[in-house]
This record gives sequence, C-alpha cells and structure tokens, in this order.
Amino acid sequence: MSVKPLRECGPAARIAVIAGDGIGKEVTPESVKAIRSAITSARRQIEFVEFDWGADKFLREGVSLPAGAVEMLANEFDAILFGALGDPRVPSNQHAADILLGLRFKLDLFVNARPVELFHDRLTPLRDRSANDIRFMVFRENTEGLYVGVGGFFKKDTPDEIAVQEDVNSRKGVERIIRHAFDYARRNQLKRVCMSDKSNAMNFAHDLWQRVFKQVLQEYPEIESRHLYIDTLAMEVVRDPRQFDVIVTCNLFGDIISDLGAQLAGGLGLAPSGNIHPGRTSLFEPVHGSAPNIAGKGIANPLGSILTSGMMLDFLGWKSEGDALRNAVRSALQENFVTPDLGGDKGTVEVGDWIAARVGSR
Ligand code: NAD
Ligand code: IPM
Ligand code: MN
Repeated sequence: MSVKPLRECGPAARIAVIAGDGIGKEVTPESVKAIRSAITSARRQIEFVEFDWGADKFLREGVSLPAGAVEMLANEFDAILFGALGDPRVPSNQHAADILLGLRFKLDLFVNARPVELFHDRLTPLRDRSANDIRFMVFRENTEGLYVGVGGFFKKDTPDEIAVQEDVNSRKGVERIIRHAFDYARRNQLKRVCMSDKSNAMNFAHDLWQRVFKQVLQEYPEIESRHLYIDTLAMEVVRDPRQFDVIVTCNLFGDIISDLGAQLAGGLGLAPSGNIHPGRTSLFEPVHGSAPNIAGKGIANPLGSILTSGMMLDFLGWKSEGDALRNAVRSALQENFVTPDLGGDKGTVEVGDWIAARVGSR
C-alpha cells in the first residue's frame, strides 16, 4: 500500500531505537540490519541511537520514560523504531504504559496506521481467499478513548469496590483521525472508507463519532462512505475482507480489529504499524507484543518489524528503500525462508540475515 511521505527528511535521518522487552530485543536489531542494507545510495545517510528503556531499567532504576525524553525525541530525531514492551516481572505493565502510551500521547501521535496486506495466499486462514482479496488499512485513533487513563477506584479491595474507566473523545480528536482516513483514501485512489463504532450502545462518545463522520464525509463525495458497528465489522472482515479499503475507528476497537486483521494476513509475526503525527517525529512498531512465551528462544518472526521499518522509510520519504524491504519480505515468504509461526524452521537471525542479503543484492 503506497503512502505519501509524511515527513521529508532529505538525505539524512536520525532514528531513535527502543527495542524494549522480550522479542522486541530480538526482532529490532534485524530491522536495523535490513535498513542499513537498504540504504546503499550515497545520497542517503541514517544514524541510529539506541535507548535501553524497558523492564530491566524500570526494575533496576525505577525509571520508565526518563525526564526530558519526549522533548529530546521530538527535537533531535526524525522517527523512533520501537520493538515491544511487556514483561511478566512487571504485572502492572506500568513501564509499558509510561513509555509506549506516554510517547503516543505526548508526541501527539494521533494516527495509528495498521495495514493489513496478505503477502502470500497460503498465509491466510480464510478459505478461497488470495492476496488480492485482503488489502486494507486500519486507522486507529491513538491519543484518546478508553486509553487516556482517566478513572479510579472506589472502595478498592472491598466487596463493594467500584472501578471507573472513562472514554474520552474530543471533537478535534475524532475529526482529525476521520479526516486523515479520508485524505489517505483520496491520495491513494482508494474508493471506500468505513467508520466503525458502537453508537447503538455508547450513546454519548460514539454519537460524537457519528456526527463528525457525517459532517466530514461530505467533503469527500468521490469516496464511498460506510458505517458498521464494531461487532458487525469484526464479522464482515472475516466473511468478506474484499469489502474494505480503509477502516477508521477508536483506540480500543482499533487495537482489537488490527490483531484480527493481522491474523487474516499471516499473524502477528508479520503485522506492521506506524504511530504517526504527519510532519513530526513518529514512532514505528510491529503490532505484536513482547511475546514472553517465545522470548529468548531465537524464533521470533522479524518480518513484522522489518515491514514496520518499511513504513518508517516511506514516512521519511525514502520510498524505494521501503519497497526494497517489502520486496525482500515477499521473497522470503515465497521461498518459505521463515520462522516457525509461519510454518518454517528458520531462526530470527537467520531470517534477518537472509533479508539483509537480499536487500543488499538488489
Ligand atoms: P503478543 O503479541 O506478545 O503475543 C501473542 C502471541 O503471538 C504469542 O503466542 C506470541 O508468541 C505470538 N507472537 C507475537 N509476535 C510474534 C513474532 N514476531 N513471531 C512469532 N510469534 C509471535 O501478545 P500478548 O502475549 O498478549 O502480550 C505479551 C506482552 O506484550 C504483554 O505484556 C502485552 O501488554 C505486551 N504487548 C506490547 C505491545 C507493544 O509493545 N506494542 C503490543 C501488544 C502486547
Ligand atoms: C498495541 C498494544 C498496546 C495497545 C498495549 C501494549 C497497551 O496492544 O500496540 O496494539 O493496546 O495499544
Ligand atoms: Mn494490540
């Protein structure tokens, strides 16, 4: 799926690398290797600076997102390449909330772009579906909704306990993500935008989504606008994914529908994403988490992170290098040079080396 550059960074880019926890630490170096291999032209330079933010540091020093980190990233870096956060030793997930959600909110990365694209027919669990049938973009609102952490406990740890989690939706926030979805469709000559909510039950928050959607769609008469409730959308993307070009939805529903979409196209090991504020420092991460069940075994699939790096290169305006990564991933899938989650017997580093070699030999 082609994406117009959202930040023209010229011939040189500075990338902050936050590998994080678990398999984040295994797949991210493979991505860096692939990018280095893609940047062959003397016209381009890329500098990576690594940050050790994650569970180890949090447990050792009590520091999750260091003071001044947000300003430093915003001022000194073009983009952030992120692995994953989450560690069984931190059951509260506090450090992940501080770092990942902290960066999404504080850098105002309101677009979570999660493309679903089937790269090889054999990877979908759907019967009689091929690559042309499964290609859509999910735009997830990324700075509001049920993720803002507004709420509290009342009578905690008593039988009468009450827990409240507020769903925060601003008109500005809803409008900018819906508008982004339509603009993306227009730029890429995609015909259909589907907004999904739960306005039949969430009669305040999603009434706002309804009203804003109906207002914005009028500015895009050439695009077929459609609304589906989120439960119906979950069913329809499985029943017939050909119906969708662009889906736009709220933070929580976008989280869920993007994992569902990932599985339609080969699973979490392959799914990329970008947390974007057009024109500003943005954060790119695979959709998957730290996968403690396979961490340390050397079998995590690095292709999701490598496709994520492809999105990052597109964002920087380096489209041909982004294409080189996607083409190499396509070849690895065709030749079945893949990790066990995709039915192969290769390790993370083996696949990473193969991709870097393929990218370098183009
Ligand atoms: P997960 O995505 O880590 O794993 C789900 C399943 O998919 C597991 O069976 C795992 O082995 C498999 N899987 C995921 N990525 C894979 C890859 N690259 N190669 C092969 N298999 C892969 O989700 P989870 O188990 O629900 O969460 C684990 C931790 O990660 C939790 O702490 C969670 O909060 C965190 N998490 C972080 C992010 C993030 O940092 N962006 C995203 C999702 C979950
Ligand atoms: C994701 C993850 C995160 C989210 C978690 C780790 C907070 O699942 O990036 O999809 O829900 O946004
Ligand atoms: Mn998720």
